[in-house]
Amino acid sequence: MHAFTAHGITKTYGGVTALAGADLTLRPGSVHALLGENGAGKSTLIKVITGAVAPDAGTLRLADADVAFASTAEAAANGVAVVSQELNLFPDLDVLANLYPMREPTRGPLLDRAEMLAKALPVLDQLGLDIDPKAKLGSLSLAQRQLVEIAKALIVQPRVLILDEPTSALDKDSSSRLLDILRVLRDRQVAVVFVSHILEEVMNLCDEITVLREGRTVIDARPRAELTIGDIVHAMLGKDLPVPVRTTGTPGAAKLELRGVTVKDRLADVDLACSGGEIVGLAGLAGSGHTTALEVIAGIRRPVRGSVTLPGGRRPRDFRSAIAAGVALVSGDRRRVGLMLDKPVWENIAQVRPVALAAAGGLLRTGALRESARALAERVRVQPPNVDVRAGLLSGGNQQKVVLAKWLAADPSVLLLDDPTRGVDLGARAEIHTLLRSVADAGKVVVLCSTDLDELVAACDRVVVFHKGKVCAELTGDRIDQHTILSTMNTGVA
Ligand SMILES: Nc1ncnc2c1ncn2[C@@H]1O[C@H](COP(=O)(O)OP(=O)(O)OP(=O)(O)O)[C@@H](O)[C@H]1O
Ligand SMILES: [Mg+2]
Repeated sequence: MHAFTAHGITKTYGGVTALAGADLTLRPGSVHALLGENGAGKSTLIKVITGAVAPDAGTLRLADADVAFASTAEAAANGVAVVSQELNLFPDLDVLANLYPMREPTRGPLLDRAEMLAKALPVLDQLGLDIDPKAKLGSLSLAQRQLVEIAKALIVQPRVLILDEPTSALDKDSSSRLLDILRVLRDRQVAVVFVSHILEEVMNLCDEITVLREGRTVIDARPRAELTIGDIVHAMLGKDLPVPVRTTGTPGAAKLELRGVTVKDRLADVDLACSGGEIVGLAGLAGSGHTTALEVIAGIRRPVRGSVTLPGGRRPRDFRSAIAAGVALVSGDRRRVGLMLDKPVWENIAQVRPVALAAAGGLLRTGALRESARALAERVRVQPPNVDVRAGLLSGGNQQKVVLAKWLAADPSVLLLDDPTRGVDLGARAEIHTLLRSVADAGKVVVLCSTDLDELVAACDRVVVFHKGKVCAELTGDRIDQHTILSTMNTGVA
């Protein structure tokens, strides 16, 4: 028996076709990967299944009955729970209230909360989420909020559990804990759907695979064992993966230099020099100092000792002065870097440019800003290729490309990136790496932090490894491989 089937689902938004007859067949006791490029329609299909969006056509069946949920709350009440790509949480409420968004207090608020707590604690514990249930949600980190969203779905003990890129905000530990929980749910005969752009994760976890391309199902519930990564990539992109082009540019004179930089509890006496023309990777375990180094360069954090010198000899006093001095910071945490979701794509891309140009006293006309935004959106391949669309309507991965375009618009001399391709599909990821190479080739300094070791190997000329607040190794050439980076990160010796 099938746990759930979606058949022939179509959905258009204005002129944009999100789904063009998609199918999805779920079985109990199986973890099902739902894959596809950014914009392929994965999140839309999930929204249709869980009642957040009404389809134009198609049928949904839960067990053997036709269903159409009017809301995600109704879907959850029927055992179909979702962890959506955008977190649906209330920052001003506490954790417990967020776990029971639809709950009406039945026996007086106090008793009810005690009951809620009794149910919630084991779930939080299982997720390894060591937080006070009375803490305001807004005070939690992004990863913690992601786990709260997952706990909210688990509490209803669903028969069908759908997770839309649940690991993109999580570190390795939390991810692997979550994947273990999904395995347990599979053993309890839950039908689990899992969306991820990390194929390694998919291949380790999933039993079956469905691939969407341009709103259609091109691989339909095939057993994982029958497919290679090459098959999946080909089905997703409709072609093979583009190979990053390596050109050799002339090294620029631009130089970024850190000397004796010390940040309380985080960095101890760090020296680092990066030249224009090279892509320098920073690696390390969480808290080892590599992201702090990035924040120091961006002026977000001030060292207690030591100095940062940007190309041209300027020093970052704060984030704004760093931007004015030619620094750009692309973060994979797009909810934190703040796209203006209700504004068109072009305004988002144009956002930092005036700040960067203020130093030069430039005054820019709207028409010119929109036109250059259009050219950049095309360069990073934002889909759909229309800069007048509100940013909030783009798929998750395409929003990430807008963040990149926004910072490229400032024509930075130092491009800093922190997990820039989180949630970006494989094809676009390779294109972004090619783009970073062309920025370096133009003589700019490019510094890349990534939790994705594959990304460091694919993109960097040199990888600087941090351990307990110090630089412990610099890897170049053949020594830039996953194994060496990983063991150096963990042991502190190359
Ligand atoms: N509310 C909306 N209004 C207009 N267009 C929309 C809306 N929601 C989705 N779309 C469009 O539908 C298409 C499919 O989007 P969807 O979010 O389902 O993609 P996805 O496969 O989840 O991508 P990603 O991997 O980037 O998350 C995209 O072109 C997107 O821009
Ligand atoms: Mg999506």
